[in-house]
Amino acid sequence: MQVLIADELPDVCIEILEKSGLKVLNKPGIKIDELKTIISSCEGIILRSGTKITAPLLENTDRLKAICRAGVGVDNVDVPAATKKGIVVMNTPEGNIISTAEHTVALLFSLARFVPQACASVKAGKWERKKFTGFQITGKTFGIIGLGRVGRQVAKRAAALEMKIIGYDPFISPEVTAQYSIQIAKNLKEVLSQADYLTIHVPFNSETKNLITRNEFSIMKPGVRIINCARGGIISEEDLYQAIKSGQVAGAAIDVFDVEPPVGNKLLELEQVITTPHLGASTEEAQFAVAVEAAEQMADALTGKGFRNAVNLPPYNIEEYNTLKPYILLAEKMGSLLSHLPLVG
Ligand code: MLT
Repeated sequence: MQVLIADELPDVCIEILEKSGLKVLNKPGIKIDELKTIISSCEGIILRSGTKITAPLLENTDRLKAICRAGVGVDNVDVPAATKKGIVVMNTPEGNIISTAEHTVALLFSLARFVPQACASVKAGKWERKKFTGFQITGKTFGIIGLGRVGRQVAKRAAALEMKIIGYDPFISPEVTAQYSIQIAKNLKEVLSQADYLTIHVPFNSETKNLITRNEFSIMKPGVRIINCARGGIISEEDLYQAIKSGQVAGAAIDVFDVEPPVGNKLLELEQVITTPHLGASTEEAQFAVAVEAAEQMADALTGKGFRNAVNLPPYNIEEYNTLKPYILLAEKMGSLLSHLPLVG
């Protein structure tokens, strides 16, 4: 069986795949025309964010069994189209969480102390000490939207900075958050209205697209500072621009944009906006870790050891699924029944 490596991976990944008896086509940066032809001869594809797997591309293959994204976001893979063709899509959600959390903290300090603006000013021959008087972090309220793997690591670091942390995540259990000194908000509004600093750690999907728009900005504390190391499209860029212009938002640190690179983006004109080129997960350690995880997962997937971190499969094997099936059906029926009962109290 053959695996295409479509973006740059370390050599150890090739070794992992070959040791499992798989043939490797190492073609980082492969162009679309070549990909269109090669895809029909591959059982697996490993990619980072540089390659796009679209529905028309998937039309050219009947052999492909698995796609693995070395990284978290699978927005460069048409997952519904892959699912339709029975292709399993996996990601590697563990390897870069610490790096993304650390980058969030770097941007938090940069926002509070105007580090990028002050650096540019000194390099331009100026000495503007008064202009760049900053703010202490300690004691401030840090709002975290999304308390998954990254959000929780951010909370852990913010707690060490003696910040007050308020978080919102409709999918998190109180047992999990109890370990992280987070005040859990009942809804998004509660976080928005209390945060001095706000950070977002949710995936980009139809539910989180434009999660933060003009309406949400109007609920925020005037002078709030915002960080986005998650994905472009979650915060409305136009509404953020207006909120900064009006003074409602004092500053924003943006690592991710609707369109990357953000050529001609109005946000870049604002001094209150600091930015990095989608660097959240860009550390030596994280890039290596996700690549190795991807190679191992692909090797396991194609040699029948099972699919790990599949985003379009239930997280258990077929035997486990057969055992769990009656309980899953029962839980679905109970949930449906509950949703039709009147609320008491
Ligand atoms: C991820 O999804 O893993 C990160 O955003 C990094 C990336 O896209 O390369």
